[in-house]
Amino acid sequence: MRYRASALGSDGVRVTMESGLTARDRVGVQDFVLLENFTSEAAFIENLRRRFRENLIYTYIGPVLVSVNPYRDLQIYSRQHMERYRGVSFYEVPPHLFAVADTVYRALRTERRDQAVMISGESGAGKTEATKRLLQFYAETCPAPKRGGAVRDRLLQSNPVLEAFGNAKTLRNDNSSRFGKYMDVQFDFKGAPVGGHILSYLLEKSRVVHQNHGERNFHIFYQLLEGGEEETLRRLGLERNPQSYLYLVKGQCAKVSSINDKSDWKVVRKALAVIDFTEDEVEDLLSIVASVLHLGNIHFAADEESNAQVTTENQLKYLTRLLSVEGSTLREALTHRKIIAKGEELLSPLNLEQAAYARDALAKAVYSRTFSWLVGKINRSLASKDVDSPSWRSTTVLGLLDIYGFEVFQHNSFEQFCINYCNEKLQQLFIELTLKSEQEEYEAEGIAWEPVPYFNNKVICDLVEEKFKGIISILDEECLRPGEATDLTFLEKLEDTVKHHPHFLTHKLADQRTRKSLGRGEFRLLHYAGEVTYSVTGFLDKNNDLLFRNLKETMCSSKNPIMSQCFDRSELSDKKRPETVATQFKMSLLQLVEILQSKEPAYVRCIKPNDAKQPGRPLPPGTSAQRQGAAWGGAVCIPPPLVPRYKSLCPETWPSWAGRPQDGVAVLVRHLGYKPEEYKMGRTKIFIRFPKTLFATEDALELRRQSLATKIQAAWRGFHWRQKFLRAKRSAICIQSWWRGTLGRRKAAKRKWAAQTIRRLVRGFILRHTPRCPENAFFLDHVRTSFLLRLRRQLPRNVLDTSWPTPPPALREASELLRELCVKNMVWKYCRSISPEWKQQLQQKAVASEIFKGKKDNYPQSVPRLFISTRLGADEISPRVLQALGSEPIQYAVPVVKYDRKGYKPRARQLLLTPNAVVIVEDAKVKQRIDYANLTGISVSSLSDNLFVLHVHREDNRQKGDVVLQSDHVIETLTKTALSADRVNNININQGSITFAGGPGRDGTIDFTPGSELVITKAKNGHLAVVAPRFNSR
Ligand SMILES: Nc1ncnc2c1ncn2[C@@H]1O[C@H](COP(=O)(O)OP(=O)(O)OP(=O)(O)O)[C@@H](O)[C@H]1O
Ligand SMILES: [Mg+2]
Repeated sequence: MRYRASALGSDGVRVTMESGLTARDRVGVQDFVLLENFTSEAAFIENLRRRFRENLIYTYIGPVLVSVNPYRDLQIYSRQHMERYRGVSFYEVPPHLFAVADTVYRALRTERRDQAVMISGESGAGKTEATKRLLQFYAETCPAPKRGGAVRDRLLQSNPVLEAFGNAKTLRNDNSSRFGKYMDVQFDFKGAPVGGHILSYLLEKSRVVHQNHGERNFHIFYQLLEGGEEETLRRLGLERNPQSYLYLVKGQCAKVSSINDKSDWKVVRKALAVIDFTEDEVEDLLSIVASVLHLGNIHFAADEESNAQVTTENQLKYLTRLLSVEGSTLREALTHRKIIAKGEELLSPLNLEQAAYARDALAKAVYSRTFSWLVGKINRSLASKDVDSPSWRSTTVLGLLDIYGFEVFQHNSFEQFCINYCNEKLQQLFIELTLKSEQEEYEAEGIAWEPVPYFNNKVICDLVEEKFKGIISILDEECLRPGEATDLTFLEKLEDTVKHHPHFLTHKLADQRTRKSLGRGEFRLLHYAGEVTYSVTGFLDKNNDLLFRNLKETMCSSKNPIMSQCFDRSELSDKKRPETVATQFKMSLLQLVEILQSKEPAYVRCIKPNDAKQPGRPLPPGTSAQRQGAAWGGAVCIPPPLVPRYKSLCPETWPSWAGRPQDGVAVLVRHLGYKPEEYKMGRTKIFIRFPKTLFATEDALELRRQSLATKIQAAWRGFHWRQKFLRAKRSAICIQSWWRGTLGRRKAAKRKWAAQTIRRLVRGFILRHTPRCPENAFFLDHVRTSFLLRLRRQLPRNVLDTSWPTPPPALREASELLRELCVKNMVWKYCRSISPEWKQQLQQKAVASEIFKGKKDNYPQSVPRLFISTRLGADEISPRVLQALGSEPIQYAVPVVKYDRKGYKPRARQLLLTPNAVVIVEDAKVKQRIDYANLTGISVSSLSDNLFVLHVHREDNRQKGDVVLQSDHVIETLTKTALSADRVNNININQGSITFAGGPGRDGTIDFTPGSELVITKAKNGHLAVVAPRFNSR
C-alpha cells in the first residue's frame, strides 16, 4: 500500500496541485504520486502525455523530476524563471528543473552537505541539456566569489570544448555524449562557486575510426574543417572538404542541418581561451586532431612477401610534422610489430590487415588520450585557486552527473554494452537510494512498511559484473587466456556460464520464435529499459585495447607537448598487463557509485517523447518513453508532507492551533470526515491512502481560499483605502496649515512693516525741522515724494490755470522752478498749437492791450471781441475808390464818422488802410489821404467814447489838418492803424481834452467829460464837447 501526502512537517507547504479538477483533467497531475492508479503504466504515460500537450515537460514523482524532451525552445529558462524558483519551497511552484536546482543549492548551503544531481535517461532524452541549464542556473543566481569570478565562466565554457571532443551525431541524438561526465562544482561557505572538477568515463573511441550509417565522428573534426581559418588548415595540411578523409566518410552524413559546425567552431575557440589555453596549446591540440585525420588516410600496399608498406608519403610527412616524431620510426611502427622474446626485441612485419588495425589503434589511442588530457587541462583551469584560504576548507560540493544514455541501435557493440551497463548500474543506485529513503521515512514515522512490487534490476547488474560468473569476467578471461581466443569463443563461454539467466539470450538458447531475431554471433540482454541485442564482433579487441609496443614507443618520443604527456615512457617499462577496458570501466563505475552514495542525491529523469528527434509528437505508445515509464512508474515515491495547510477548513484549527500539531491534525481529519482506511497517522506526518481524498480536501481548500481571499481582499481594500484617505487628509491638513502659516506670516510682516513705517513717519514728523538725519530722512523723503506724486496729479491744465499745490518747505524753491518750467512748457505747447491767423489776432490784441489797457474806459469791452480783418467787404467800397488806389491793396476798411473841423458836423465816411496811407473816403471819392509818413500821431480820450484824432504833419500843405473821426470799433481801428503806420508809440490817450490842428493856423479842441451817456455836441466855446460814460474798468 502506498500513501500520499503527509503533514505536520516543519518545512512549510509541500503540496500545490493544479487548481480544481478541470485543470487536473486537462494538464494531469504535477506529481505522479497523486495519480489514482499510480502503479499503472498507462496512467503514468497518459499523465505525461496530457502535460506534454500543454507544454508542461516537467512532472514530479515525489522528489524525482521527470523531464520530457520538448525538442524545441519553450522559453522556460530565462532569468525571470530562475528568480521565480529561487528561495521557494519545492512543491509551492509548478515542477521545474530550476526548482530542483534551487532546492539542492539551499540544502547545500543550509545543511552544508555535499549534493549530487543524477540526471539519467536514454540517449537524446535531454541529460546534457539539463546539466547545462543547471550550470547556467548556478552561474547566474549564485553570488560571485570574491576572487576568481572567472570560475563561473570556466565552468560554463568547459562544456562546448568537451562536447566538441566528446559528443557526436548518432542516430538517437544529434549531440550525443559519447563519454560519461561527472562534474563537481565547489561552493565556498557563502555559496559562491569557487572551483570545479570533472571526471570523464570511457570515451567511445571506436567512433574515431568507424561510424555507423547516418552517424558522424566527433564534432571537432567537422568544426575544424568547416570553421578553421585558411592559414590554420594550410599549416595542418588539411582540405576543407570532410569527404577527403576516410575517418569522416563512413557514416555518410558529414553535413547535418541541425548542426552549425562553423559557428560551433567559433564558440569552441572562444571557450578554449576562457579555460586557459595558450595559443601554442591550441596549435598543439589542433595538430593532434589533424594528425588523426591524416592517419585515417594512410594507405598500405602489400609487397611481394605480403608485408604492408605505406603508400601515402604525403600523409606520412604531415603526420611526422604534426606529431613531431621521426618519419622513419613512424613508418616502421605502422608496418611492423615489436615483440620482446626472451629479452630480445624482434621486429615482425605486418600484413595489410594488421597494419590497418595498428593504424586505427593508434588513431583511437591518440584521440582518446588527448581527450583525457583535455579533461585534465580543464580540471587544472577549474581548480580552486584559493586552496589555502580558510573558506576553502569549508567548501561544499555539488555533483552533476551527465552520463551517456541507454541506447539501442540496429547494430550494438562493446560500446553500447558498456553504456547500457552504466545505465543499469545507475538505475540500481537510484532504486537503492530512493527505496532506502522511503523505507527510512516510513520507519521514522512508525508506519508499517509494505514493499511495492517493482522491477529491481540488480539481477542484470549482477549478470554483467559478478566476479567469475559475470559477462565482464568471462570477457576478461577470454582476453587473457592463452590460446586462440575469438569473439565467438567468448560467446560460447558466455552461453555455457550464464545460460540459465532470465535476462540473457543467444541464438542457441532462444526458443523457436525468438531465435529468428538473433544472429549466431549475438547475445541479447533484457535490460531494465528494454531488450538489446549485442554483436560480439570486436568485443575482445576492444576490451584488450591493444596498441603495439613500437607505436607506443614512437608516440613516447613525440615532441608535441600534449602527446608527450599522453604517452608516458613509464608505460613501456611497466611489465604488468594493463586492466581490460571493461574492468577499468567497471571499477570507475564503482567509484562513481561510491561518490554518489557519499552525497545527498537529487534525481532528474529525462524522457524522450519520440525517436524522430522532433517536437510536438507526444509519447506515441510503445516508444522508449513507455519503456522508461515502465521502469519508473512502479518505482518508489516519497509521499509529500501535508502541512497544516488545511487548517482553514476546520473552525477549531483556524486561524491557529495552540495545541500539539499531531492533535491539531487529528481534529482536522475528524472535521474533514476522513474514513479510517483513507489515512494513517505517522509520528510527524499523515499518510493519505487515496488521491481522491487529497483532491477533495484540496478542492475544499480552493473554495475556502476563495472565500478567505474575498474577505482578505475586502479587508485589505478597506484598509488600503482608509490608509489612502488618511494620507490624503493628513496631506490636506498639512497643506492647509502650511498655507495658513504663510498667510499669517505675510500678514504679520505687513503689519510690522506698517507699524515701522508709521513709527518712522511720526518720528520724522517730530524732527521734520531739524537738518536731515536718519530719523527724519524717511519722513522728508516721503513728504517730498508724496508732494511730487500729488503735483503730478494736480498739474495746471492750461496757461490760465494758476492753481499749484502747496509745496513742503524743503521743496519750495524746487516747486517754483517746476512751476516756471511747467508754465513755460504749457506756453510753448500753446504757441506751437496756434494758427497764423490766431497768432496775428493775438499779436494785435497784445498791441491793443499795450496801448489801451488801463488807459481807456471802453478797452475792456473790446477784449472779448475778436478783431476782424476788415469791416467792409469789397463790394461796399466804391470801385472808383479802388481804381484811385490803383495797385495799393486795402488792408483794412471800416465805416467811420467824421466831424467837420469847423462845425463838427458828423459825416459818414469810410476809413481804409493801405500799406502806405490812411485813406478817408466819402462815398465814391477819396476825401483825404494821409500817408503814414505824415501821420504824426493819434489822440484818443481815456473815456468810453469812440472818437479819435489823426494828427497830420502840419507842413504838408496838401493836408487839410488833423482828422476827427469816430469808429464803433475804436480799439480795433486804432490798433490796426497804429500797426500799419508803425505808430504804436504815438497814440496819446488824453484826459480832459485833445487839441488838434483844424487847418492852417487854426486849432480845434475836443473836451471830454464823463457823464451818464454819450453826447457829442459843439460847445459854446467852439470846442467839441464829448460826454462819455465812465466805466470803472481802469
Ligand atoms: N529542455 C529542453 N528544451 C529544449 N530542447 C531540448 C531540451 N532537452 C533536450 N533538448 C533537445 O534534445 C537534444 C538532445 O538532448 P541531449 O543532448 O541533452 O540528450 P542526452 O540525454 O544528453 O543524450 P545522450 O545520452 O545521447 O548524450 C538537444 O540537443 C536539444 O536539441
Ligand atoms: Mg548527453
